[in-house]
Amino acid sequence: MLSIYIALASLIIAIIYFLVLLPLIPLLKIKMQLGSKAALMFYPLSGLNKIFNDSLAKERDLLKIINNQLKKNPQTVVILSNFIHKPVLVWTGAEYIKDIYLDHTSYVKVDPFMVESIAQKGMVLSEGEAWKRQRKFLGTAFTFEKLTSRLPMINQVVEKVSKSDPKTNLNQFTSRITGEVVIHSFFGDLAKGFQIEGKDAQIAIVEILSEIFLMPMNNPFIQLKQMLFEYKSWSIFPTKKEKQLLKRISDFKQVIMAMIEKRIEQLKNQQIENQDKMVFLDLYVTEYLKQQKENKQDMDAEEILHQFITLFFAGTDTTATTSGTCLYYLAQFPEMQEEILKEVIEVVGEQGDIKEEHLNKLVRVNALIQEVLRLRNPAFSPVFRTVRQDKQLLDVKMKKGWFSVAYHIGPGLLDKHFENAQEFDYKRWLNKGNVIKNDNGFIHIPFAAGPRNCIGQHMAVMEVKMIVARLVRQYKITLNPEVKDITFGMKFLYCVEPDNCLLYEERNLQ
Ligand code: HEM
Repeated sequence: MLSIYIALASLIIAIIYFLVLLPLIPLLKIKMQLGSKAALMFYPLSGLNKIFNDSLAKERDLLKIINNQLKKNPQTVVILSNFIHKPVLVWTGAEYIKDIYLDHTSYVKVDPFMVESIAQKGMVLSEGEAWKRQRKFLGTAFTFEKLTSRLPMINQVVEKVSKSDPKTNLNQFTSRITGEVVIHSFFGDLAKGFQIEGKDAQIAIVEILSEIFLMPMNNPFIQLKQMLFEYKSWSIFPTKKEKQLLKRISDFKQVIMAMIEKRIEQLKNQQIENQDKMVFLDLYVTEYLKQQKENKQDMDAEEILHQFITLFFAGTDTTATTSGTCLYYLAQFPEMQEEILKEVIEVVGEQGDIKEEHLNKLVRVNALIQEVLRLRNPAFSPVFRTVRQDKQLLDVKMKKGWFSVAYHIGPGLLDKHFENAQEFDYKRWLNKGNVIKNDNGFIHIPFAAGPRNCIGQHMAVMEVKMIVARLVRQYKITLNPEVKDITFGMKFLYCVEPDNCLLYEERNLQ
C-alpha cells in the first residue's frame, strides 16, 4: 500500500515539476532581473491561450489584456508566459524587437500548419541558403513594374466580386477578392474557372488552410500531439477529422500540381515575350526549365507548389483582414467615410478604374490603412519562433527551445511614440511633420523588419487601397444594427467579428 502512495506522490511531484516549476522558475528569474519592465502572466498548462481567451471573454478583444498592460506600465518590455511546459517570452520593447528581427537566424519558425509537404519549401518557412536564393529570386516578382502591371486585374476582381458576393460575411467577401488576386498573380490566365472541391479555388483553399490551422486550437488532444510529435502527429492515433483533412489536402495538392506540370510542358516549347507581365508561375517555370537545361537543378516542381501555397496563405488572409477592418472603421466613423469618399472622387473620379497615377494621391485612404495596421494589425506578431541555441538577447538569457515572440505592434501603442496611442485617429498620418515620436525604426513595423520582412508589403498596401477606394465609392458602408457587440477576435488572424457586422447600400454615383 505504502509503495502505491509513494508512486502516486512521485507522479504528482513529477507533474508539478514538469508543468509548473520547469517553466515558472526561469520566468521568475527574468522577472527578478527586469523588475517592473517584465510582466509575469504565467498560468499552468494554459499560459498564453488563457491570456487570449480571458481577453476575448472579458474585453471582447484578443489583445486587450496585453495592450492594457502596456498602457498601465509603458516600461514593460516583455510579457512572461508559457505554452504548456515551455516559457513563452512576448517581447514588447522596441530595442528587443529590433535585435530579434536583425538577428533572425537565432530563431526557428514554428510551422503554423504542421503538415508534411505543403509549405516547408516555400519562402516563409525555408531557411539558410535555400531562403536566400528564394528571396533574391522572388524579389523579381515584386518590382514596381510587375506590381503596377497587376492593377487592371485587381480592378476587375474587386468589381466582379463586389457585385457577385452577397456581402453578408465580411471575411469571406474580402478573402474572395484577395484570394482571387493571389491566384491570378500566380497562375495568370490558367486560373480562369479554377475550382477545387466544386467551389471557387480561393474559397476552398482558405477553408482547407483555416481548418489545418484551427484544428489543434479547437482540440487539445491534437494540440498536444502536434507539440510532442510535430509532423508525425498525423499518423499517431489519427482522428476521423484528421484523416478526412489529409485526404482533402492531398486532393487539392494534386489539382495544383497538375496546373504547374501543364505550364512546364507549355513553356518547354514557347518563349514569353513581355517579361514585365510574367506571372509568378511563369517566373518559376522559366527558372526551373533554365536550371534543367544547365543541369543545375536547385528548384523542383514541389517547391513551386509550396511557393504557391505560401504566397496564398501569406497574401490572402492578411490583406483580406486588413481590408475588412478598414471597412469596419469606415462604418464606425461616418465622418471619416465622407472625407475618404470625397478624396476618392477627387482623385479617381465617380467612375472608372484606379490607375498607377492615382495611388500616391490617395493619402487619406493610406492614412486609414496605416492606422488599422498600427492598432489592429492582423499579423500583430510574426510566425511564432523558438530559440535555436541558448541566446543572450540584450540583457536577457534565453534557453534553447523557449518560445520568443516579437509583439511588433507593441511599441506603436505607447504614448511616447504616438499621441493618445491606443485611440483610433487616422488623421495622425496626415501630419506633414514626424508622425512617430522617438522612432528607432522599429516602432511602426506592420510588415515586420530586417532581412525577413514582408516581401509582399507594397503589393498588400496597393491592393488594400484599391479595395477600400473602390468599395467606399460604390457603397455607403454602415454598421449592422442587428449586431450588438463587436469583437476583435481570431480566425486565422486577428480580425473584426461577427462576420455580418457591416451593411452595404449602393450609392449610384453618376
Ligand atoms: C496587409 C497584408 C500583409 C501583412 C500585414 C503581412 C505581414 C507579414 C509579416 C509580419 C511577415 C513576417 C513573418 C515572419 O517573419 O514570421 C510577412 C512575411 C511574408 N509575407 Fe507578408 N503580409 C501581408 C501581405 C503579403 C502579401 C500580399 C504577400 C504576397 C503575395 C506576402 C508575402 C509574404 C512572404 C513571402 C513573407 C516571408 C518573407 C521572408 O521570410 O523572407 N505578404 N508578412
